[in-house]
Amino acid sequence: MDYANRPLVHRLMKFKEADPISFHVPGHKNGALTGLPMELRTALTFDFTELEGLDDLHQPEGVIREAEQKLTNFYRSNKSFFLINGSTVGNLAMIYATCAEGETVIVQRNAHKSIFNAIELTGARPVFISPEWDSASKTAGTVTPEQVKNALTRFPEAKAVILTYPTYYGTTGDKLEETIRLCHEREIPVLVDEAHGAHFAIGEPFPTSALDLGADIVVHSAHKTLPALTMASFLHVRSNLITPEKVARYLQMLQSSSPSYLLMASLDDAREYVESYAVEDGRDFMKRRAVFLKRLTETGHLEIIETDDSLKLMLRVNGYSGYDLQKALDQVGVYAELADFYQVLLVLPLLKKGQEYPFEKAVKRIEKAIEDMINSKVKRQLPGLPVFDQLISKPCYIMKEVEKLHAEWIPYEEAVGKIAAASLIPYPPGIPLLLAGERITEYHLQSLTSLLATGARFQGAIRLHEKQIFVVTNEAEE
Ligand SMILES: Cc1ncc(COP(=O)(O)O)c(C=O)c1O
Repeated sequence: MDYANRPLVHRLMKFKEADPISFHVPGHKNGALTGLPMELRTALTFDFTELEGLDDLHQPEGVIREAEQKLTNFYRSNKSFFLINGSTVGNLAMIYATCAEGETVIVQRNAHKSIFNAIELTGARPVFISPEWDSASKTAGTVTPEQVKNALTRFPEAKAVILTYPTYYGTTGDKLEETIRLCHEREIPVLVDEAHGAHFAIGEPFPTSALDLGADIVVHSAHKTLPALTMASFLHVRSNLITPEKVARYLQMLQSSSPSYLLMASLDDAREYVESYAVEDGRDFMKRRAVFLKRLTETGHLEIIETDDSLKLMLRVNGYSGYDLQKALDQVGVYAELADFYQVLLVLPLLKKGQEYPFEKAVKRIEKAIEDMINSKVKRQLPGLPVFDQLISKPCYIMKEVEKLHAEWIPYEEAVGKIAAASLIPYPPGIPLLLAGERITEYHLQSLTSLLATGARFQGAIRLHEKQIFVVTNEAEE
């Protein structure tokens, strides 16, 4: 293997070859003291720290700078950064770099919880845009330029517009460029959580990256679709409105002062992987994907839903929820990315020509899983999920205010009209159904009831067994 185009990986290999003796942290001493299995122990022999020649993520002047420069060049940004705390830290840093306490930010409502956490931490005041319903995936989709324009007209003081592109399900819509343009006309930066789209820079057969559509800051979970270690992520700045220095300052505060060289090496490798992804690789991937789809269709029970991103695929079986199907798949050793009410979501591998993947084995197992499910479980009438209104809304209180109010657990059937005292998050995908400070509506209650009936898991303000939800009880007194 030639490591010339992976400067950090190359340097780590050279460093290891020189037989270093560790009198430094980490305490596993290049793997010598660990009780981990051999495969992991081997990985630890590369788990160095900021030693001579290995540079410093927070003040890169050597090999990390070189690796980040290659990342910057490939994504054609002003400056791209390695992140070792996931897109979560990228979302935090981009929001800290643009919003301060009391300032207004416009946010797509179906965002990941890290976006809402960042807003809460900064004390900014969110205005939510509920996106259009994506009928293919039966999930919340993307926001339209008209919605953003309306929000900007009502809240011209907004300091940033924060969007999610693509959605978890791979929906991109086709209007992001227009949305960005109208924000830029007002000199408002557009921050895009593109956690699921690090591979979009390849171009065809994948959608266009938000970076190429003009976004100011874009965050990528490299680990989601590129071959990077979990948590390894990127942040890119390409903007006339925000400086990379400001983002770097927050990244320095928010990221570990002992960044993992394993994560950084895998980021260097992931960048090389996507950079060297050839047109021919894309064509070959699409051919193999088509065969996989055909074979899945031949099982006879599956409805297969495609979305804007060819790496994402949804599977449904009529009469069974996504949670039922996921359980059946787990039993045969096929693990989907997530399940929801209607379907399971598969993330396909970003294969290059010549790489093997056990698609046929997967088809056989999926076929068996469906047979087992149908034989052991009676079909049911799935309750419909309510489609939300496409609103521009503000929560009644931000979190800091909610914390000062009195809150209690009450049966959730009695919660309509009350204010949520904590967020309620179906997980995965981690998109809050309710945010602390939002008023609970019939839509929330119906969604919660349907999700619970079909086996969804939750984080946050719910006591599932007692059927209780955490709400503000002294709202009127404030
Ligand atoms: C849309 C979106 N943004 C951000 C994140 C957080 O990413 P990470 O796990 O890399 O911190 C996720 C995680 O699932 C996500 O789906």
